[in-house]
Amino acid sequence: MSQSGFASVDLGRGLTLPNPVGLASGTAGYGFELEQLIDINRIGALYTKGTTVRARDGNPPPRVAETGGGMLNSIGLQNPGVDVVAADYAPRWRGWTIPIIVNIAGGSIEDYVHCATVLEPVAEIAGIELNISCPNIAQGLDFGRDPDAAARLVAAVRTVTERCVIVKLSPNVTDIAAIARAVEDAGADAVSAVNTYIGRKIHRASGRSVLPLGTGGLSGPAIQPLALAAVAAVGDAVHIPVIGVGGIVDAASARDFLIVGASAVQVGTATFVNPETALQVLDGLRAD
Ligand SMILES: Cc1cc2nc3c(=O)[nH]c(=O)nc-3n(C[C@H](O)[C@H](O)[C@H](O)COP(=O)(O)O)c2cc1C
Repeated sequence: MSQSGFASVDLGRGLTLPNPVGLASGTAGYGFELEQLIDINRIGALYTKGTTVRARDGNPPPRVAETGGGMLNSIGLQNPGVDVVAADYAPRWRGWTIPIIVNIAGGSIEDYVHCATVLEPVAEIAGIELNISCPNIAQGLDFGRDPDAAARLVAAVRTVTERCVIVKLSPNVTDIAAIARAVEDAGADAVSAVNTYIGRKIHRASGRSVLPLGTGGLSGPAIQPLALAAVAAVGDAVHIPVIGVGGIVDAASARDFLIVGASAVQVGTATFVNPETALQVLDGLRAD
């Protein structure tokens, strides 16, 4: 049991989460805004915004659209670049007691290897989550769709980091279990499932898509049953820990993921509705 009175989660390579409830990538930035709103040190882990070799401005607005039971986003990986995260953000995490897991993204194996290399000496960082599944950038899905490409990526990153490597899987594939097996075989320590589902919303007055790239990533309660099916399939396919993410709004919807075999969970879109959601999920699970 951890200090919070809830079972800790061993993700491998020395990364132990104090509790299973984390904040999902892209929905909590780098934690600095949320820190002002909630007791962030009670969270099981912070998974940062997707971070790339160079700073990215992201996609043109509008970047989000509300949908039935969820939202579409097309942020396009806006971030300050890995050098800024390593040099300027990491010192601000000093004193935080929760694991900071930096989510990294790129268009080539070299991009990911570069990011992992820059982050490797940074003491404040507990692990790396490889986003092989962002639907909102060109080439963002190639690694997540192809087991061989995903395996090559993981193997390359494995050579430059001793840290726990978590691979964030795309649900926009025919066989998510095959991708999970491939990254496990290539040396991933854990997988997180799932990223957003490709979706589209029409502006009915004009007949055009609301989002500038046409499609975006669907998240929120609408995807919870889909994510649950994906996590169950991944859990059946691999022996490494699976982190469930998709549509969690409360302890009950989080517990579903633990029931189908997830070792930990991440809360994403629900944090936008109520920044306390992850803490409420944690308290609810602890009351079980
Ligand atoms: C606005 C927004 C930005 C996101 N950015 C990222 C990202 O940078 N990297 C990533 O791996 N996932 C990203 N995601 C996906 C979430 O981490 C999560 O996998 C997904 O939203 C499903 O969980 P939810 O339904 O609880 O939001 C983003 C999601 C949203 C809504």
